[in-house]
Amino acid sequence: MSVDILTPSLTESWDQPEAWKLANYEARGGYQAARKALAMTPADVITLVKDSGLRGRGGAGFPTGVKWSFIPQNNPKPKYLVINCDESEPGTCKDVPMLMATPHTLVEGIIISCFAVNAHNAFIYVRGEVLHVIRRLQQAVAEAYQAGYLGKGILGTDYDLDIVVHAGAGAYICGEETALLDSLEGRRGQPRLRPPFPAVAGLYASPTVVNNAESIASVPAIVANGADWYKLMGTEKSAGPTIYSLSGHITRPGQYEAPLGTTFRTLLDLAGGIRAGHQLKFFTPGGSSTPILTPEHLDVPLDYEGVAAAGSILGTKALQTYDETVSVVRTTLRYTEFYKHESCGKCTPCREGSWWLVQTLRNLEAGRGSEGDVEKLLDVCDNVSMKSFCTLADGFVANITSSIKYFRDEFEAGYHTPAWELFPYEKSIYFPYEREKLIVNEVADK
Ligand SMILES: Cc1cc2nc3c(=O)[nH]c(=O)nc-3n(C[C@H](O)[C@H](O)[C@H](O)COP(=O)(O)O)c2cc1C
Ligand code: SF4
Repeated sequence: MSVDILTPSLTESWDQPEAWKLANYEARGGYQAARKALAMTPADVITLVKDSGLRGRGGAGFPTGVKWSFIPQNNPKPKYLVINCDESEPGTCKDVPMLMATPHTLVEGIIISCFAVNAHNAFIYVRGEVLHVIRRLQQAVAEAYQAGYLGKGILGTDYDLDIVVHAGAGAYICGEETALLDSLEGRRGQPRLRPPFPAVAGLYASPTVVNNAESIASVPAIVANGADWYKLMGTEKSAGPTIYSLSGHITRPGQYEAPLGTTFRTLLDLAGGIRAGHQLKFFTPGGSSTPILTPEHLDVPLDYEGVAAAGSILGTKALQTYDETVSVVRTTLRYTEFYKHESCGKCTPCREGSWWLVQTLRNLEAGRGSEGDVEKLLDVCDNVSMKSFCTLADGFVANITSSIKYFRDEFEAGYHTPAWELFPYEKSIYFPYEREKLIVNEVADK
């Protein structure tokens, strides 16, 4: 498989020495796009981003330029930009490596985006556990202040901008944009009732744009190269390149930047395929909250429309990959345990439903299930999905119902046989990079 399919834009300099330092970013043309944008009108910047077809990379795929245009400029309150770097979805690992490698791409994207929506304050909300990312971002923001890219009268204009890097306390629900805003305001992170939407009354009840880190980091390249360049990649409705996170039983797991609409078959080929001697059993196209897919979906275009047509969601493009050694009952239980733990408890169907689902799945995993447990699972799912306050609940239900759809016999086997007898767990243990290191060492020894 040719690597021509790869379209490194966000990831272009990830392997460069000290790519995160300001001087190295500038040497690669960094902050030229911000200069260009600040010489435009804010409305023209919004039009450019709209024309590019950039869609939010946080999961829902909402058009970024359109979101910016919702900010009411006749509202006298300050406008805010909030960057969502919570990245807590199991399997999703794109913002963290991107921010470690090139934090200035995000800072430059923030300058352009804030200018476009007339905001003078931006907040980068980072998941608390990733202290290394928080430090890297703080360092980049400090460098940008020192160089005059942030603060008063930036880049010789009369435009002022301040950025605050804020560490969350590590809760999955704080990735949901309104829970994030509550958390940022110092409250317990729980989703807010909508309307009002954040564009009208967000942070401190002021007009607020919440965007994913990858969405905003995509903006400098769009300003630098134009909307047509961006649209050359991807599909008609899902434009541009994006970072796919490949994990699990893959020869070379990692981040692969390729155009939206690339198939999993192509990505798998680039990643060396499923680990040697094994076959693909199932995968999540967009992280743990998206319905699983199976080998019959290898040629589905991984864009918003293609994955939806296959009955799933592109989400955060996190391709968690499982081979034939894996028990689906076990993975479903592990995911559901995660969501039970992360449920914020605000609404009954999600809080109680996730608890009951875990109990039933534990019984099935242990081979202690009862006839009718699969119907019970589906019934509880039906009482949770679309009846809860936010889409966290819809996400874990989707994983369960899709797993039953494709592997019902494995769940029914849980009426009499433990999952670990059918799928001995030690067979699915896999450490790809340690093994590769060993191979490299062996070669070096020779
Ligand atoms: C439970 C839950 C968790 C979420 N976690 C994240 C997250 O970690 N990062 C993120 O960017 N969006 C997350 N989202 C989506 C955000 O609510 C929001 O749609 C996104 O930040 C908007 O940015 P975008 O338009 O650039 O995609 C989550 C949504 C839900 C319901
Ligand atoms: S669905 Fe779950 S996470 Fe969302 S508000 Fe209700 S309890 Fe909280």
